[in-house]
Amino acid sequence: MKVNGKWYRAVWMEGNVVCMINQNKLPFEFEVFNCKTHKETCVAIKDMITRGAGSIGAAAAFAMAQATIEATKQSANDYLMQAKLRIENTRPTAQNLFYAVENVYNAALISVENALRIAQNIADECANDGKKIGEYGNSLIKQNMKILTHCNAGWLALQDYGSALSPIYAAKEAGKNPFVWVDETRPRNQGARLTAWELYHNDIEHKIISDNVAAFLMKNKEVDMIITGADRIVANGDTANKIGTLSRALAANYFGIPFYIAAPISTFDLSLANGNEIEIELRDQNEVKLAKGKDAEGNWHEVYTAFPDSNAYNPAFDITPAELITGIITNKGIIKANTLEIKTIIKNGIQ
Ligand code: MRU
Repeated sequence: MKVNGKWYRAVWMEGNVVCMINQNKLPFEFEVFNCKTHKETCVAIKDMITRGAGSIGAAAAFAMAQATIEATKQSANDYLMQAKLRIENTRPTAQNLFYAVENVYNAALISVENALRIAQNIADECANDGKKIGEYGNSLIKQNMKILTHCNAGWLALQDYGSALSPIYAAKEAGKNPFVWVDETRPRNQGARLTAWELYHNDIEHKIISDNVAAFLMKNKEVDMIITGADRIVANGDTANKIGTLSRALAANYFGIPFYIAAPISTFDLSLANGNEIEIELRDQNEVKLAKGKDAEGNWHEVYTAFPDSNAYNPAFDITPAELITGIITNKGIIKANTLEIKTIIKNGIQ
């Protein structure tokens, strides 16, 4: 996407430095954050300086490539294995991270050049997959549709274009005038901060809603369709995505509203049979109790928005059962959330 007239990806590599748009500073400041070592890139993933399954995958791929450059000949294998485990331990839920690390690690066993090439391929593939998802997903969007989305599954989350937002960008380009309800997405507000920022800069009409509003809008026939991204889709179609996705799917099901997941093939994990096997990341309780932002004078503040002495519980993702999902918009076509269609598309692609 273009920011201030310059084209950016969410994450990229320059020499041995991993660069990323600092998503913790958006929408208040646009900053490029540099990670000089794979350990610094790991901290950046954990701290969510970059976030969203695809961008996490690209950052993980580049981190593994950095480790390959850092490794000395004598102990290269040990170093690479430790780096692989370190990267895998940053965030457990997004499948793209594991897909990326595995592929770059295998390439690194051959040569540094090979690792760098595969890491770049993974980042490029992620961006291209987003474009394809947009083309397929656009076919579902009719003129003036009101679409609800959760979290941020735009270009910041998938390198370019996005997963859930990509069909909306394609529909806008096709002149269909989509309108977007943007879930705030507590506790880190990826919707209110990042999705709203992306849509504003793409001139797409939208309104931010607090997380409690979605079902009310659905009941009042103000939502024609829901599209969210995914962090991991397992063999039976159960899908992990940002906490709160499940409650949107349940309400959509009750009110007969189509509920779509958008994700590239690299988000599928056929090694797990169902959603109960997905590890859900638990994050620091302070994300629930504290909020950070800028005041009107441009000064950053962090304030408590909850009783500081209470404990808080902060699971980052939930699992939406396959039966609540109308379809999955992938980079190879739109499928039903069932084992047969998932296995077929991964093996053959849409014919
Ligand atoms: O915790 P985050 O912000 O990394 O979670 C992101 C999401 O849940 C997105 O909806 C998901 O990654 C799909 S976008 C590629």
